[in-house]
Amino acid sequence: MHEKTVSQSRVIVSQVMLPEDANPAGNVHGGTIMKLIDNAAGVVAVRHSRSNCVTASVDQIDFHNPAFIGDLLIIKAGLNLVGKTSMEIGARVESENLLTGETRHIASAYLTFVALDSNLKPVRVPGLIFETDKEKERNCAAEIRRKHRLEVKHTHKTLCNNT
Ligand SMILES: CC(C)(COP(=O)(O)OP(=O)(O)OC[C@H]1O[C@@H](n2cnc3c(N)ncnc32)[C@H](O)[C@@H]1OP(=O)(O)O)[C@@H](O)C(=O)NCCC(=O)NCCS
Repeated sequence: MHEKTVSQSRVIVSQVMLPEDANPAGNVHGGTIMKLIDNAAGVVAVRHSRSNCVTASVDQIDFHNPAFIGDLLIIKAGLNLVGKTSMEIGARVESENLLTGETRHIASAYLTFVALDSNLKPVRVPGLIFETDKEKERNCAAEIRRKHRLEVKHTHKTLCNNT
C-alpha cells in the first residue's frame, strides 16, 4: 500500500452561519461547530484511506471564541498520525466576519477515525509522509496523545472490568 503525504488529504471547508445554526441571541451552537469539524475530519480520513470511515473518538474540543450568525466558519483539517487502521486528525475552526474581515480562532479538536472494509471491520490504511517540520511536530504530539489514549483504555479495562 503506497504511503501518502499529509497534503494529499488535507481539507479546508467553509460555511456561512445562518439563523438555524444559532441560539436566539445569535451565538452559533457548539453542536453546529462539532458537526462541521466531524464532517471535515471525515473527508480527510476517507481521502487518505479511500475507505468508509467512522469516528472512533474525539479527544478534546476547545471553544476559544464565540461565532455568530453571518460569520463565515472556516474548518481546516489534516492528518497528524496514522496507525494500522486508525487516523488522528486535527481540526482548527476560524471565523471571518464578512463585513469587517476580522478573523478569530473559534475552536480546535483532535479526532480519531477508523477505516472499515465492506464487512465493517477495521482495515489497514496507507502510511503517512511528513513533508514539513510542522507536520512532524504535530505527529510527535499526536503520538503522545495516542499513547495516553491507549493507556487510559487499558486502565479502564483492568480497573473497571470494561469490555
Ligand atoms: C471504532 C471501531 C470501528 C473500533 O472497532 P474495534 O473492534 O474496537 O477495533 P480494534 O480494537 O481492532 O481497533 C482498531 C483501531 O481503532 C482504534 N480505536 C478503537 N477504539 C478507539 C477509540 N475509542 N479511540 C481511538 N481509537 C480507537 C484502535 O487503537 C485501533 O487502531 P490501530 O489499528 O491504528 O492500531 C468500533 O468501536 C465502532 O464501530 N465504533 C462505532 C463508530 C461509530 O458509529 N461512530 C459514530 C458515527 S461515524
